[in-house]
This record gives sequence, C-alpha cells and structure tokens, in this order.
Amino acid sequence: MPVAANGVGFSDNTPNKQRLFGHIVDQHLAVVSKIREKFLQNHYSGWPGTEYLYIDATSGSGHSPETRDAGSPLIVAEQARRSGMPYRCHLIDRNADNAETLRTTFAEDPRCEVYCGEYQDVLSSIVSRIRGRPYGLIYFDPNGQPDFDFIARLSQHPALSRVDVLIHFTATGLKRARRIAEEDTLEARLHRVNKQHWMIAQVTAGSPWQWTFLLGLNYRMKPYEKMGFAYIDSDRGERLLYEMNYTKDEKCAIPARRQLILSDFVGRGVA
Ligand SMILES: C[S@@+](CC[C@H](N)C(=O)[O-])C[C@H]1O[C@@H](n2cnc3c(N)ncnc32)[C@H](O)[C@@H]1O
Repeated sequence: MPVAANGVGFSDNTPNKQRLFGHIVDQHLAVVSKIREKFLQNHYSGWPGTEYLYIDATSGSGHSPETRDAGSPLIVAEQARRSGMPYRCHLIDRNADNAETLRTTFAEDPRCEVYCGEYQDVLSSIVSRIRGRPYGLIYFDPNGQPDFDFIARLSQHPALSRVDVLIHFTATGLKRARRIAEEDTLEARLHRVNKQHWMIAQVTAGSPWQWTFLLGLNYRMKPYEKMGFAYIDSDRGERLLYEMNYTKDEKCAIPARRQLILSDFVGRGVA
C-alpha cells in the first residue's frame, strides 16, 4: 500500500473503508443515543458517563492524502455534532505534521483534543482521566498491524468496559507476519481482548490484502448485516474469520470448514 510522507496510507480499499466507517459510526451513535434517551427519561439515574467517547488511536491528518476526503476524525466529529449528544474525541497520531493539521482543524472545537505520540504511550494517561464508564468507540487503523497485545491490555481497564473496539487491518499482512514470527492467529488474539462479542466484515471483497473490520463489544446488538458484518460465532462470521485467520497451508492442514460463498458479501454490492 502506498504511504504518503505523513504516514497516512492510501489504496483502492480506502474509499470503501471510509464509506463503511461512516456507516458504522452512524449506527453506533444511533444505538448510544437511544440508550441515552432512556436514561434521560429516567432523569439520568444510573447514566454511566457524561459524554459519548471517541478515541482515534491512529488519526492520520483528518483527510485522505489522495482524495482530500474526510478521514475518521472528521467523520466522527461531524456525525457526533449532528447526533446532538455531548461528546469528547481524543485524537492521537505519531506524526507531528498530522497532529499539527488536526490541531488547526479542530481549533474551534474544545471537545476534540489532539495528542502527538505513539498510541501505546499516550492512551494510558487519556484513559486514567476518563470519568465514569462512558459509551463510545476506540478505533485502531494503522497502516501496519495493530498492536493486539496492547489492545488486549488496554481493554481490561474498567473505564473502557462500554467503549467498543473497532480495528481496521489487513489480514494478509497479519498472516505474513505470523508466518515469519510464528505468532498467534487472529482468533487467539481476539480472545485476549476484553470484549465478549466480535463482528467481522471484509472491506473490499476479492482484495488480496483482505482488508478487514473487527468490532468488539461487551453487549449483543443486532449485527450490522447490511454493511456485511456478522458475529464470528455465526455461520457466516465463522467463515469470514476462518478466511482471515489461516494461510493456505494452514487450511490444508486443518479440518475443512465451509468455504466463503458469494452471499457472505451481501449488503455492500462488492461481491
Ligand atoms: C491509515 S492512517 C489513519 C487514517 C485515518 N483512520 C483516516 O480515516 O483518515 C494511519 C495513521 O496511523 C498513524 N500511526 C501508526 N501507528 C501509530 C502508533 N503506534 N501510534 C500513533 N499513530 C500511529 C500513522 O502516522 C498514520 O497517520
């Protein structure tokens, strides 16, 4: 994947990724908004946090380097504003130019805070300042592989128990890295993250990179089927995870499971 000078990658997958990301955020905000309304009707009794929390661990500059289309921080900030809910965004990037661009972009919005650094270094101080147990989303979208061990440790923090984990990564890249270092499978890594339910979707069907979204939750909501998501313990989700999990050689060595079929890509017109 080509990577621009500021570390933000761009590929044929990017427009699909941003479209799908926009839908995910839209649905997510709608669900949290409904939960909040219920609490409002009960005069906030038991409301676990004051604001919708969005953490972007790998924010980029706010725009795609090629198309100038809005990237994840702008997509979320715009949709959160429209939702009418109070929100707080923590935007992290290791690249100083990206952080500077984000600071300029969000200069007028005190609800968005920007940090320059490695997310592994910055996040513990952010999380230690969270009050209550807010609902929200934390997003990992590095160009390389997400740090699954770090994500597993971070997810144990009680303040994040209601913050869902969204990961965008290339399953092919993970399998390659695994072949070299004999590391764990994707499935084994997911088991270590403190989220009980995982939805999976392939972003661009047929892409050799197998760009994938994973969404980890601690509650069971209706899967985002129209967007191609399925829970990994459903038939279709199991098939998707199998494809993302194993190399060709491994598939030959383990008992056959059902192959991916055309209908596994329903909903996004990308079969
Ligand atoms: C693919 S871009 C993110 C694009 C963004 N999600 C969007 O939608 O526009 C990946 C970004 O992650 C940053 N990054 C990668 N690893 C990081 C890390 N460990 N800590 C902080 N930033 C990181 C890179 O500098 C790059 O800007």
